[in-house]
Parts: sequence; C-alpha cells; structure tokens
Amino acid sequence: MSEMILKNAAVVLPDAIVTGTVVVKDGVIREVASGATAVPGEDMGGDYLMPGLVELHTDHLESHLQPRPKVRWPAASAIAAFDAQIAASGITTVFDCIRAGRDIDHGSSKNDVMETLGALKKAGSQGLLRAEHRVHVRCEVCVEDVIEITEGAVSAYPVHLMSLMDHTPGARQFRAMHLWRTYYGGKTGLPAEELDKLIARKLDQYNRNYATHRKHLVALARANGIVLASHDDTTVEHVEESIADEVAIAEFPTTLEAARRSHEAGVKVVMGAPNVVRGGSHSGNVAAETLAREGVLDVLSSDYVPASLLVGAFEIARRIDHISLPEAIRTVTLNPAKASGLDDRGEIAPGKRADLVRVRVVDDLPIAREVYREGNRVV
Ligand SMILES: [Fe+2]
Repeated sequence: MSEMILKNAAVVLPDAIVTGTVVVKDGVIREVASGATAVPGEDMGGDYLMPGLVELHTDHLESHLQPRPKVRWPAASAIAAFDAQIAASGITTVFDCIRAGRDIDHGSSKNDVMETLGALKKAGSQGLLRAEHRVHVRCEVCVEDVIEITEGAVSAYPVHLMSLMDHTPGARQFRAMHLWRTYYGGKTGLPAEELDKLIARKLDQYNRNYATHRKHLVALARANGIVLASHDDTTVEHVEESIADEVAIAEFPTTLEAARRSHEAGVKVVMGAPNVVRGGSHSGNVAAETLAREGVLDVLSSDYVPASLLVGAFEIARRIDHISLPEAIRTVTLNPAKASGLDDRGEIAPGKRADLVRVRVVDDLPIAREVYREGNRVV
C-alpha cells in the first residue's frame, strides 16, 4: 500500500477551511485531521490544499492544435503541451472541447476531429497525461455536417458531454446583430455586403436545420448516456426548451433571467472564469460576477484561459462578501464534478479520489505549486 501524508495545510473542505493533515492511500483520501501532527509527511508550509479543479469547457486545445490560422500542429504534440498547461493550472479533470460542425471561423473536418480523439485516447492509454481527459463535443446545431461528425465521434470514442450551440446572427450570444457583425467581421475581414450574404445564409441554415438537428442530437446523447449542456441560453423559452430536453448544464447563459430560471430548475449554471477576471463579457452579455452575487452561479469554467479557473474562484470570494472561499472553490471542484455525473471527486473527504492542489496566494494571485492526481504528483 502506498501512503502519503500532506501536513500543515489549510485544507479547503466543502464548507470550511481547517489547518491540518490529509492522509492518502492508494490514490484515495483516507483521513482528514485538524491540528498539528508529529507524523513525518510533506510539509505544505501553511499553503492551501484544495481538491483538484474540474474543468467542463476548455477550448484551449484548439489553440495548440491550430497555433496559427490554417496551421495544424501534430495532435500528439499539441495534446502533450495542452495537458501540461491544464495540469499546471491545478486542473485534474478536464473535459476537452471538440467542435462538431463547421462555423464561419471555427471547426475541423471529420478527419481532423477523429485524429484528435484518436491521439487523446492513445496518450491516455500510454499513461502520458497528467490530468484526466474527458471529451466534450460542442455541436454547432444548425450547420450541415454536425450530425455526421458527432455520430462519428460518439461511435468511436467515449464522449462524456455534448453541448448544443446556436450562433445564428441575432440570436443568443449575438442577440444584438451589430455584435455578431463586429465579432465575425473582425475575424473574417469580410466587407459589409459579404457579411450580409453570410447572415442570409446562416438564417436559412437555422430555418432548415435547427429543429431537426437538435432533436437528433438530443436523442443521440440520451441513447449513449451522455450529459447534455445548453449554450448561451438567453430567454426563458430557451431554458424551457433545455429543461424539456433534459439538459443538466447551462453554459454561459447570456441574461440574468435565463440563468435564474436554469438554476432554479436544477440546471447547473456555468460561466466563464475569464469573464470574472476581466470584469465582464466580451460579447456584452451578463457578467459572471453578477450571477454570483445573485446566487445563481454554480460552476466556473476556464473557457479559453486555463489559468483563469483558479484565479476566478479566488476573485469571486475576494470581491463578494457573502461568498466564502470554500463556496467559491466549490464552483471549480465539487459543483462541476456533480454536474457532469462524477461523484468520486471534487472534495477533500475520506473515500474520494486524491486529486489535490497545493496553492499559495501571493499578492492576491493564487498559484498552483503542486498538483496530485489520484495520489501521484503530476506537477
Ligand atoms: Fe457561444
């Protein structure tokens, strides 16, 4: 039996912080004890010891796979670099976003998607990954190839989470048409008349495909036991549609009313940690901090900056008087674990996986100094 003792730590429990010792045996937490101990062990020097972070939505792998426009980096190398950054950010369970369906500026061919999934599976089976990687397929519901790519992924690899996205101009994240024009116009560099044609094409695609594709994807998730997430829900009607489809997670609701309705219905509200760190949404939608103050934020996600997850949780606790540090840390540990159906991790408690992060706060900035996955030090 391998045993590890981490002592003199500020141990972050779900509802309290206690200074003491965590005992790990065979990758599982066996005991949490408060107070000093004479038993030999790793001295945490009074640093925080918290559960390994659980990340439900990172698209950061894409920037490793495609470090420049039209440059595809070899998948195995991209995954190794991405994994190192994820683990160094204190994340021990990560749902890697893979896009299904080509949008204007995003999306890979079916071959690229399958190659990425194959490389992820291989790296995992070779024991090369520091974090546990799970797969989150982001389905751009209205586009033509979304079903083919999603079905291909689900039939070949374990897919754990599927989100249903609709980025039609004038809807949801881009409810104000000028925001869609600014965002996609900036990305594509197209002149105004070309953008008009594009908008007409996207609206046509929505009218033809939204209802049938969504129904098909929901059925696919249900048949394969895959957790479903909505994306950018904006109105109460969107949320009602999500509830009817047995969605468990609401990613990035864009209004307080949509977030509140989701939260009250038990659909876990996920917001971007970069939104917290930057102090608002880059698309002009409701701020994550507002939802936290209103008591309807369940989960933070690092979205496009892995390091934002730890910082965002500490910032929530620092800025909002009625949110304690343990409560804020739950938004990046226990809450995302439960929302995605993982009940073996996300808290420091006997019997849970020894996924642990040692954190020191310097000038209000939390730094992950050591990371353990199932009792093995990975950073
Ligand atoms: Fe979106």
